Amino acid sequence: MRLPLSTSPGPIGVFDSGYGGLTILSKVRELLPQYDYLYLGDNARSPYGSRSFEVVYEFTLQAVEKLFEMGCHLVILACNTASAKALRTIQMNNLPRLDENRRVLGVIRPTVETIGTLTHSRHVGVLATAGTIKSESYPLEIKKLYPDVEVSGKACPMWVPLVENGEADAAGADYFVEKYITELIRQDDSIDTMILGCTHYPLLLPKIRTYMPDNIQIVSQGELVANSLKDYLHRHPEMDVKCTKQGSCRYLTTEAADKFAESASYFLNEQINVERISLE
Ligand code: DGL
Repeated sequence: MRLPLSTSPGPIGVFDSGYGGLTILSKVRELLPQYDYLYLGDNARSPYGSRSFEVVYEFTLQAVEKLFEMGCHLVILACNTASAKALRTIQMNNLPRLDENRRVLGVIRPTVETIGTLTHSRHVGVLATAGTIKSESYPLEIKKLYPDVEVSGKACPMWVPLVENGEADAAGADYFVEKYITELIRQDDSIDTMILGCTHYPLLLPKIRTYMPDNIQIVSQGELVANSLKDYLHRHPEMDVKCTKQGSCRYLTTEAADKFAESASYFLNEQINVERISLE
C-alpha cells in the first residue's frame, strides 16, 4: 500500500461485495444527507456469501485500503459477509499498521444492539448468506450482549441470486422465500424477532412479509445502521471533522460501469454515474 495517506478530510466510504450495500447507503443518506459518500461495490468478485474466510478477508482488506487511499477516514462495511468474516481482523491486525486514526465499522453490531429490546420471547431468528450463518457472528455477538437470548440461523443461498437477477418480485421467488422462512421456524417455533442479516433481503420484503407469521417482527438493517452511524459521529467529533460535507455521492465498481449503473437504479430508484476501478 502507498503511504502516507492523505490527512485531508474526505468522504465516508461504504463498501459492499456488490449492489446490496446500496440498501444501507440509501438509508444512511436519508438520515445523514449532509456528508459526502464514496460507495465501492466489488461486483467483479461478488457474491462473497459462499467464499472462505481467507478470501473474504483478503478482498475486503483490499477494498478498505483503496477507500483509505481515496481519502476516506471512516469506512462502513455495508456487507454482512464482510462484517462477519473480515471486520474484526482488519480492526485488530491491519488498522494499527495502516493508520490507527482511521476507522472501519460493520453492520452486525448495530443490528445486534437493538435485538434485546425487541424480542419478548427471547428467541431470535437470523436469515443470511451461508458465510454469515457459518461464521456464527450473530449468535456470538447477541450472546455477548444478551446471554438469555436463543438464536437460530438459516442460510438462504437462493435469495441473493433472485435479487441480483431482478427476480425479487417474480412468482418463482415465492418458493424459496417460503422455504427458508418455514425451515427456520421449524427449528424454533418460539422465534418472535427475525433479523434480515443480508443487504439484499430488503428487496424481498414484500414476499418475506407474506410468508412470515404475523407474530414475528422483521428487523431490516438500513435504518439501524444509519442511526448507529449518526450516533457514532456525534460521539466522535474528531472523526466527524474528517468527513467532508457537501452532500455528494460517488459510485465505484470493479465490474463494468454501465452494468453497475443499470442494476443500481433498481436498488436506488435513480440514475447514477459510475466509475470502474481495480482492487488487485
Ligand atoms: N452483501 C452480502 C451480505 O450482506 C450479500 C451478497 C454476497 O453474498 O456477496 O452478506
